[in-house]
Amino acid sequence: MSQRQLFVTTALPYANGNFHIGHIMEYIQADIWVRFQRMQGHKVDFVGADDTHGAPIMIAAEKAGITPQQFVANIAAGRKPYLDGFHIQFDNWHSTDAPENHELARQIYRDLRDIPEVQGGSLIERRTIDQFFDPEKNMFLPDRFIKGECPKCHAHDQYGDNCEVCGAVYAPTDLINPFSALSGAKPELKSSEHFFFKLSDPRCVAFLEKWTQDGKLQPEVANKVKEWFTVRTNPDGTTSEGLGDWDISRDAPYFGIEIPDAPGKYFYVWLDAPVGYLASLKNLLDKRGESYDAYMANDKLEQYHFIGKDIVTFHTLFWPAMLHFSGRKTPNNVFVHGFLTVNNGEKMSKSRGTGLDPLKYLSLGMNPEWLRYYLATKLNSKNEDVDFNAEDFMLRVNSDLIGKFVNIASRAAGFLTKRFEGKLTQSFGEQGTALLNDIHAAKESIAQAYDAREYGKAAREIMLLADKVNSYVDQHKPWDLAKDAANNEALHQVCSLLINAFAELSRYLAPVLPSLAQAVEAFTGTSMQNWNTTGYVANIQPYQHLMQRVTPEQLEALFEPPAVAEEKVTPGGEEIAPTISIDDFAKVDLRIAEIVNCEAVEGSTKLLRLTLDVGEGKTRNVFSGVASMYKPEDLKGKLTVMVANLAPRKMKFGVSEGMVLAASHADEKAEPGIYVLHPWPGAKPGMRIH
Ligand code: MSP
Ligand code: ZN
Repeated sequence: MSQRQLFVTTALPYANGNFHIGHIMEYIQADIWVRFQRMQGHKVDFVGADDTHGAPIMIAAEKAGITPQQFVANIAAGRKPYLDGFHIQFDNWHSTDAPENHELARQIYRDLRDIPEVQGGSLIERRTIDQFFDPEKNMFLPDRFIKGECPKCHAHDQYGDNCEVCGAVYAPTDLINPFSALSGAKPELKSSEHFFFKLSDPRCVAFLEKWTQDGKLQPEVANKVKEWFTVRTNPDGTTSEGLGDWDISRDAPYFGIEIPDAPGKYFYVWLDAPVGYLASLKNLLDKRGESYDAYMANDKLEQYHFIGKDIVTFHTLFWPAMLHFSGRKTPNNVFVHGFLTVNNGEKMSKSRGTGLDPLKYLSLGMNPEWLRYYLATKLNSKNEDVDFNAEDFMLRVNSDLIGKFVNIASRAAGFLTKRFEGKLTQSFGEQGTALLNDIHAAKESIAQAYDAREYGKAAREIMLLADKVNSYVDQHKPWDLAKDAANNEALHQVCSLLINAFAELSRYLAPVLPSLAQAVEAFTGTSMQNWNTTGYVANIQPYQHLMQRVTPEQLEALFEPPAVAEEKVTPGGEEIAPTISIDDFAKVDLRIAEIVNCEAVEGSTKLLRLTLDVGEGKTRNVFSGVASMYKPEDLKGKLTVMVANLAPRKMKFGVSEGMVLAASHADEKAEPGIYVLHPWPGAKPGMRIH
């Protein structure tokens, strides 16, 4: 077979948290495939990146008191121990906020916008839509940040897209008494111009029907996609016919990529996220001094994306359409896997994951290749869910991987080292030769299984071969042969055969167990890099343990809930902000202020208008969201603390010239209340707080 050029990715994880075991499963699935293809002699570039943009990350950063750039950099800094720990070998790990991605996303957008009339014209359209707006935060609210009473069952505190109590699906505008989950303010409907990718255009429909139904996709995936061409569910729960246009813009403030020629408008995170695949590749090629354009122009290039079943729409509709109509190469395929659950657990929370903490697994000294092997036995080419079951894990690792496979080497190596100076014979007797032939004969079918991502099938075939080797051992009993020097030649044959069989099976397992394969390479002196290596093992090094058994104690510790002391305590419902220097603190000018006047704000149930004297010879106007706690007369005449050098902020009711300090719990729903600060007697207006 001629050498293939493969470009392989996994989905880009949101940079709002560490990896969980579901992510690790996806990476292991892809890593096994990549290693297998490399053993076939193919060239593979395997890249990942952090998916950094969007409102949730922006808001999380604000909560943490850092910039979104810092926030995602902190997350990125934590990736390596997971990847190295599980032998996941990306050639590059990049970020969707990197310059390559800004440039590529904007270029793809321009190409879609500027399609000439003769080719059917632009696929980008501007349309004005009404959306909820938070007047205090001064931003449009994503659905997940609008809460209110369910219009059907009247449950309180429900999200803007669906009710978790009765399951109703609706638009945020259907909520009763909606409020912003960010500020508590009553959202207002405000119109805004949005950019749409015209997926309903007949050109797109025709292209996608062909792209998704030409047989490349997994059958269950193709069938699901087919439904989207006939009906779709609208935000309000009603259905419409055919593909809908895709809203690709968000208004400032937004952490994302600004849309060309549209100040204040940003690409919706899912527009630039998959472009991150290309950006990471480009970054890799730049580092190697290779041309990205030349690389992509190679019509032999094959592009594959490993993804989970929850993000199929983005990868089978939006992404191929974006690429195709911007004049770019489309993926050769998208490989969809199911979700990992733990101990029959329910589906893990997408962002947090539950049950099995990958770093805890490693810190307990558990071998990463146990997990790789176990997951391999469970994975196939369908998008079925996979359950991690502790008992099953122990059985597969101890009985199969170690009992059937690793033990082959330990049973033979000692005799060879002690009796034959580690030298092997190449005559294995009739039965031994036949067994080795059986093992060689399975090579093609195992290769096909790997190539088709049927790792479970590959593992079963390999274990069947190991079974054959073990019955050969039981039949020839080297430990009995070793009792009588007259059997020396037979002992030599049997043990030499076993080591050769073991080396071959190790090569078959090398995509799954790369570290073990490396040890076997050192032990036997035969290469594990190439699937088609032939020849026999000439001699071995003294045997060293290749793999320990997993113990019940380890599994117990793995699933033990963290001790109370380890549990993250979050004072007031949020973590202490990152350390700052005294100089950072000195930038904030805190002063004692006298509340010389205080009045209600018409049109707001949240705000009070304070007139403050900070000893400047004039007063300041400051709005403070404490109306739920204090009546104007409670505050009037009292001293408090204010941030005196905060940039003035224009609000709906006027300009606010500073901020009064007040304490509250991070989760205002769980623990309502906001408390204004009040100095000890003796403090005077204008005094600075050091
Ligand atoms: N950021 C998007 C993907 C953008 S791709 C251009 C995203 N991120 S994610 O962090 O939520 O998920 C990343 C990948 O992990 C997805 O393929 C997702 O399906 C997968 N998984 C998340 N939870 C999972 C399990 N419990 N099990 C297996 N895979 C799971 O979606
Ligand atoms: Zn409801």
